[in-house]
Amino acid sequence: MSKQRVLSGVQPTGNLHLGNYLGAIRNWVEIQKKYDNFFCVVDLHAITVPHNPTTLAQDTYNIAALYLACGINLEYSTIFVQSHLSAHSELTWLLNCITPLNWLERMIQFKEKAIKQGENVSVGLLDYPVLMAADILLYDADLVPVGEDQKQHLELTRDIAVRLNDQFATPEQPVLKLPQALIRKEGARVMSITDGTRKMSKSDPSDLSRINLLDSPELIEKKIKRCKTDPIKGLSFDDPERPECHNLLNLYTILSEKSKAEVAQECADMGWGQFKPLLTETIITALKPIQERYHAIMDDKVYLNRVLKEGAAKAGTVADQTLVRVKNALGYLPNL
Ligand code: TYM
Repeated sequence: MSKQRVLSGVQPTGNLHLGNYLGAIRNWVEIQKKYDNFFCVVDLHAITVPHNPTTLAQDTYNIAALYLACGINLEYSTIFVQSHLSAHSELTWLLNCITPLNWLERMIQFKEKAIKQGENVSVGLLDYPVLMAADILLYDADLVPVGEDQKQHLELTRDIAVRLNDQFATPEQPVLKLPQALIRKEGARVMSITDGTRKMSKSDPSDLSRINLLDSPELIEKKIKRCKTDPIKGLSFDDPERPECHNLLNLYTILSEKSKAEVAQECADMGWGQFKPLLTETIITALKPIQERYHAIMDDKVYLNRVLKEGAAKAGTVADQTLVRVKNALGYLPNL
C-alpha cells in the first residue's frame, strides 16, 4: 500500500521563530518517515503584504536551508519553492472562480492582517487562503501538519474541495481529495515572550517578542532576561492569570523533552531568577545543532540549488497531473 501524502509550507517572510518550529517543522521531521512528504517554501504568499524584493530570494534560500537543518530528510521528503511551479497560481485562479467571496471575508487571519494594512489591503491578501488551498489540493494531500492558527484555512480548503467535487464531479469519482489538518497539541500555539496572551509572530514589530531559530546565544540570553514574567514565586502550568508562566514552562517542557508532570514538579518551588537561566540554556542547546547545520548548508549553494531543482521537478509531476484533472472536470479544451 502506498504511503499517505503530507504537504505543508512556511512563508519566507523574516526569520523563522520557535512558534514555526514547534508548531510546524519539528512535527514534519517527526512524522516524515511514515508519509510521502512535500514541503514547500510558499514565496507567493510572501507578497500578499508589502515585501522587500531585495531580500525575497535570500529569505527563500534561508527557509529551504532551515527545513534541511531542522532534519527534513530527502529520502522521505521533497522540498521545493512554490513560485517555481506555475500550477499553484493556475489552480488558484480556477478555485477563485468557485469560491464565494464571503467565505474569504470571514477568515480571521485576513481580518487581523487587513487591519494592519489600513487602506493598502491587496486582493492577494484576501485570496491568500485560496492559494493555500491550491498548494494542498494539487498534491492530493491526506494530512497537513500546521500550527493552530491555520485551522480555519484548512477548513476552508476542505469546503472548496467539496464545492468543486459537488459541482464538477460525482461522489464515486471526486476530482479533489479532502485533506485533514494535523495539529499537535503541544507547541500548536507558542505565545509571544513579551505578552503571553498573543501568538509569537514574525510580524510583531518587536524582535524581543520572539526567539528566532538563528538567534545567537547572547541574543537568546538577552531576550529571556527581558521576557515578561510575574511577581509570583513558584511556577505552574495552566493558570489563566499567568499566561507568560504557562508559555515559558511549555517551551521548556518541549525543548528539554521532559514530560509536563516532570517539569511541574521540577519548577514548583522555583523563582524566575532560577528558571530563566535554565530556560536560556535549554533553548541554546536545542538550537545549536540546527544553527550549525544551517550555516553549512547555506555555504553550499550548489547543493541547495540542486535540492530545489530536483524538488520542483518531482513536485511538478504530481501538481501538473492534478491540474489537468481539474481542467478536464471544468470542461477546458485540452492543450494537445
Ligand atoms: P507561516 O509562515 O505564517 O507559518 C508557518 C507555520 O508555523 C505555524 N506557526 C505557529 N505555530 C505555533 N505557534 C505559533 N506562534 C506559530 N506561528 C506560526 C503556522 O501554523 C504554520 O504551520 N498559511 C501558512 C503557509 C502556507 C501553508 C500552505 C501551510 C501556505 N500554503 C499549505 C500548509 C499548507 C502560514 O501561515 O505560514
